[in-house]
Amino acid sequence: MFEAKFSRRSMVVMTLPASLSAIWAAEAKARPHALGVPMQQEALTYDMNELEPYLDSRTLKLHYADHHGQHARGLQTALDQVDLRVGNVLSLMPCLRELKKPPQVRKSILQLSLAQGPMPTGVQQLLPEDLQRQIRFHGGAHVNHTLFWRFLRPRGQGAYGPLNGVAKVICDQFGTVQSFKEAFASVALNHFGSGWAWLVYRPDGKLVITTTRGEDNPLMKDYVNWQDEGMPILALDLWEHAYYLKYKQNRRAYIDAWWHVVNWDFVEKAHQVASR
Ligand SMILES: [Fe+2]
Repeated sequence: MFEAKFSRRSMVVMTLPASLSAIWAAEAKARPHALGVPMQQEALTYDMNELEPYLDSRTLKLHYADHHGQHARGLQTALDQVDLRVGNVLSLMPCLRELKKPPQVRKSILQLSLAQGPMPTGVQQLLPEDLQRQIRFHGGAHVNHTLFWRFLRPRGQGAYGPLNGVAKVICDQFGTVQSFKEAFASVALNHFGSGWAWLVYRPDGKLVITTTRGEDNPLMKDYVNWQDEGMPILALDLWEHAYYLKYKQNRRAYIDAWWHVVNWDFVEKAHQVASR
């Protein structure tokens, strides 16, 4: 266990700016990040059958179109309820409990204000808990799946293992790439039920392997241990819908296959961006 001394407040996650035209969040002190997640589902950069035989096309189609698609629509529906517009969904993750409704200014007051003085700021209210839960669940799922797709590529296209900076950090911390893979697989296998496994770049520069429940992720500082907060630089979906059709309950076989299609070039890019 890493034992460096730093306060919880110092663990403010690197998040990402957004064109949050109507988000009034105390923790939205984000810095630019090239790994932003737009509201819309991104098109995959590979064909559905290009990850065969490791990840089968039938599962991929259902996973991308049905599961992920449902969450992207669910997030949009939730935000529409309070007229929130978000440019970068990642920027919501660290401040889910502080999200507030945009100010509501009555037209008559606005007209009066324009005639007599400064515009009123309106009243800001925290979002109802039910809506916070919807944004946490659907927003988390949208972010997680978007990252998951980016960290995949067909075998033979790109590096077959960690590169440059991230390779050095992995070897410094875990000894060898193989040791890292075993540690990651062990953590993923020991996670009970649905969730995600992550390699996280923490604000103190350390890498940590962790898992989250449901659709939570390491950017959600309100819902993860402070030791696990940070920017994901590798993501693995542990929900059964990600592998059941091909691997049934054999999560180990799924993980072993998944390593063959990890996009190490993107892992390197994510590490570069996170460590700037
Ligand atoms: Fe999934």
